[in-house]
Amino acid sequence: MIHILYAGPQADWDMYKKCMECALDVHTLNVHISPDIPPDQVAYIIYSPDGPVQDFSIFPNLNVVFNLWAGVERVVNNPTLNVPLTRMVDPGLTEGMVEWCVGHVLRHHLGMDAHIVNPSHEWAPKAPPLARWRKVTVLGLGELGGAVARALAALNFQVSGWSARAKDIPGVTCYAGGDLASVLEDSEIVVLLLPDTPDTVNVLDAETLAYLAPGAAVINPGRGPLIDDDALLAALESGQVGHATLDVFRAEPLPRTHPFWQRPNVTVTPHIASTSRPETTSAVIAENLRRAEAGEPLLYLVDRARGY
Ligand SMILES: NC(=O)c1ccc[n+]([C@@H]2O[C@H](COP(=O)([O-])OP(=O)(O)OC[C@H]3O[C@@H](n4cnc5c(N)ncnc54)[C@H](OP(=O)(O)O)[C@@H]3O)[C@@H](O)[C@H]2O)c1
Repeated sequence: MIHILYAGPQADWDMYKKCMECALDVHTLNVHISPDIPPDQVAYIIYSPDGPVQDFSIFPNLNVVFNLWAGVERVVNNPTLNVPLTRMVDPGLTEGMVEWCVGHVLRHHLGMDAHIVNPSHEWAPKAPPLARWRKVTVLGLGELGGAVARALAALNFQVSGWSARAKDIPGVTCYAGGDLASVLEDSEIVVLLLPDTPDTVNVLDAETLAYLAPGAAVINPGRGPLIDDDALLAALESGQVGHATLDVFRAEPLPRTHPFWQRPNVTVTPHIASTSRPETTSAVIAENLRRAEAGEPLLYLVDRARGY
């Protein structure tokens, strides 16, 4: 019997139980999954950083930790974790992120707000430019950023992207490493899909925000620390940034007194750009469990030295 500790959000347990049992049936493994298993019996943990487990040292027979989230910044440096850690890559998570990013890019590209909020009923027939004339930059070309860049390129946007290692994505001008001057130069919309690591903190600061086209839109579904908040507020004040759509923050929930709530040119969404849904993530965990039991390489292994 393989004992799997469910240490994800309590509210999702019933759904995970149903979906995991379904997904594991396919592999005919003899599995017991529960939020309540004696620590010495636990072989695998389905993990979320908001769940009950913080100290992995109490599980002497632990093989692998399956993180339910794509981002691992809250577990990757846990000194008690001495077994492989996988992160979530799943079609549902990717689809959700693509839909959210394309929606918010199109909002800014088409200038939708002027027509949705038009209290004086002004008739101002100014057609938006075509996507082919709009420069959009995606910072981070991994599972999510790569999919978003492809979707935007399919809509004909002029898409540039940035990653640590070189990429080749049809329709996307790819940059790897180096400074951001040529990546961001004249960009009118920038989407952040980098992980939160020591190397990516404040990747958008006063210097890099100045590379953008005046009045650019900043869209951040990545992580709060990617942006220097004070620099962004100054750029929103000066008009260098026309609008910021922010899904993630240094402190979540975003404190009620935070200036982002006060600014008319900031849209706050409550970390909902995409989410791990049991219906799709269970199959990913089940496949990784099968691999672990068969001694095959795990999918989506976190590189703990890189931090993602
Ligand atoms: N708001 C939400 O609801 C939500 C939901 C899911 C995920 N997220 C966030 O989205 C992030 C990205 O997820 P993912 O699955 O796409 O991750 P991923 O596959 O690991 O991709 C990360 C990308 O960032 C690049 N990168 C990392 N460090 C860099 C650096 N120092 N300079 C330049 N590029 C760098 C990587 O480059 P290489 O490809 O060269 O390694 C890769 O292209 C997650 O870490 C999480 O923070 C948010």
